Amino acid sequence: MCELLDHGYPAGMNVTSSGPTLPSARGRISAALIEYLRHTGPLPDSEEISAAAPLGDDLQLALYLCYELHYRGFSDVDADREWDPELLKVRAALEQPFLQTLRDTATVHRHADEALDELLVEPVDGSGVSHFLRDEGELWQVREYAAQRSLYHLKEADPHAWVLPRLWGRAKAGMAAVEFDEFGAGRADRVHARLFADLMADLGLNTAYGHYLDATGVEALATVNLMSLFGLHRVLRGALVGHFATVEITSSPGSRRLAQAMRRTGAGPAAEHFYDEHVEADAVHEQVVRRDVVAGLLEEEPHLDGDVAFGADATTYLEDRLAERLLGAWRAEESSLRVPVRPAFRPRTGSPASVGTGGEAP
Ligand SMILES: [Fe+2]
Ligand SMILES: [Fe+2]
Repeated sequence: MCELLDHGYPAGMNVTSSGPTLPSARGRISAALIEYLRHTGPLPDSEEISAAAPLGDDLQLALYLCYELHYRGFSDVDADREWDPELLKVRAALEQPFLQTLRDTATVHRHADEALDELLVEPVDGSGVSHFLRDEGELWQVREYAAQRSLYHLKEADPHAWVLPRLWGRAKAGMAAVEFDEFGAGRADRVHARLFADLMADLGLNTAYGHYLDATGVEALATVNLMSLFGLHRVLRGALVGHFATVEITSSPGSRRLAQAMRRTGAGPAAEHFYDEHVEADAVHEQVVRRDVVAGLLEEEPHLDGDVAFGADATTYLEDRLAERLLGAWRAEESSLRVPVRPAFRPRTGSPASVGTGGEAP
């Protein structure tokens, strides 16, 4: 019989080697969770969790750790911990204030059409991150952007795959068609996560999954947590579809600007290719998502209209927060990262200079 630890799971089984190691804590809640995942210590209690800032570093990192167990996990955590009932209780306690805050502060639209139509209107002032990088971004800023986005792009489209068993008919067929493209349409070298790893290599970044977790700001973490929250809950399938539609609708014009930014900064051919690919692909995906996924879902389940709108609004809200963080730092000529990042090797083109000061292992 296996030795059981206090969480009830056998020791030393199913440790995955594909994930990163556990990160540094960002407060008491994430510290307790990290210790628990290492097999020791009590979990944070609900009072401690409800006292934390819902969009703050500590809560968001704790939530990210819980979610990551459903993706590739951590190399120093047993894979069986994914279904540890005590952890799932904590995850639910962390999700509740996050979701409530988004419902209270991000909700703007009541109907999916209103929320998605508004995304088609490009801001006149052109003040977004992709505008900045296209017009005046430097290579170190492009590198920071890629490092922070890597927490999602190295698992691109994975959170959305969870919605497939929860859809039916046109919505399911449309979603599967888009996901097929995201996962390379049968070609491993065309998987979008692979293309992003190639982009990172051009920039001299470390392409290991989850490598930049410690460096990533809470605003970027929250955007990734949002997808996991929507993807893992069947009750939030409408919000997941709203999220996906928002990403696909805004991706093509944003990718065009980022492709220009890659060319202007000399980021490299794979970096250009990642965004060029998304200009083409997402122009098609946008149509499929609106015509088949959103319309198909609402035909089957019209009561999800408000949830689709909420998913779109919550995505825009968290993306705006991330843009504020990035642009605020860059306009002040400061790093947007929590920990300096230096190239893992000399980038193919452009400056090999470190970002920020001090040493961080590449
Ligand atoms: Fe993609
Ligand atoms: Fe896409």
